Amino acid sequence: MIHYPIQTLVTAGIHDIMIVTGGNSAGDFLKLLGNGQEFGLKDLYYTYQRGEGGIAEALSLAEHFADGEDVAVILGDNIIEDNIAPLVRKFRQQKKGARIFLKEVVDPERFGVPEIKNKKITHIEEKPKRPKSSYAVTGIYMYDAHVFDIIKTLKPSRRGELEISDVNNQYIREGILEFDVLKGFWTDAGTFESLVHANQLVYQKFHRKK
Ligand code: G1P
Repeated sequence: MIHYPIQTLVTAGIHDIMIVTGGNSAGDFLKLLGNGQEFGLKDLYYTYQRGEGGIAEALSLAEHFADGEDVAVILGDNIIEDNIAPLVRKFRQQKKGARIFLKEVVDPERFGVPEIKNKKITHIEEKPKRPKSSYAVTGIYMYDAHVFDIIKTLKPSRRGELEISDVNNQYIREGILEFDVLKGFWTDAGTFESLVHANQLVYQKFHRKK
């Protein structure tokens, strides 16, 4: 599964990639992916997240790697159909801030959900009981280096994590969060249903004989 998000980055021309893993299976990723040769990469970088401190904490571990430059983040279980190269270009033209990507879903309560007014996101609520839109914030994010300052100000949420939605809400407050709606399919694999769904989409898109 991890191959697809890495391929998404590589296809978009992003070749400096750090993988943040955790738990007991971290070594498996190294065995599986090695130096990234199969993606045409010269090298792949790894770091280790102790505990389950959240996506924002995982991102903070890449601060030295980013070294003051912009970063693109993709969650290891997110599978998308679109080539994100044009979206990366739009982010580059932005000069500063963040860019996130939405997709309409039938079960927004499982995700970060944006409230949208006058074509602007006014707030993102993490796993709301009553979602304010039918969009999910997908697990693909682009940030300028300011993201690392924002993460340092975060407090753990009720689930004990530094939430990526809190990072995005800070960018909203500063008026520098932009977004696009993905055209092709997107899914995560956080539930058994979505894992099955992800398998079906990947099979149809990449493996079915034409
Ligand atoms: C995370 C984010 C959520 C986002 C989702 C996308 O959820 O917190 O905002 O919509 O990824 O896959 P989690 O996987 O932690 O439940």
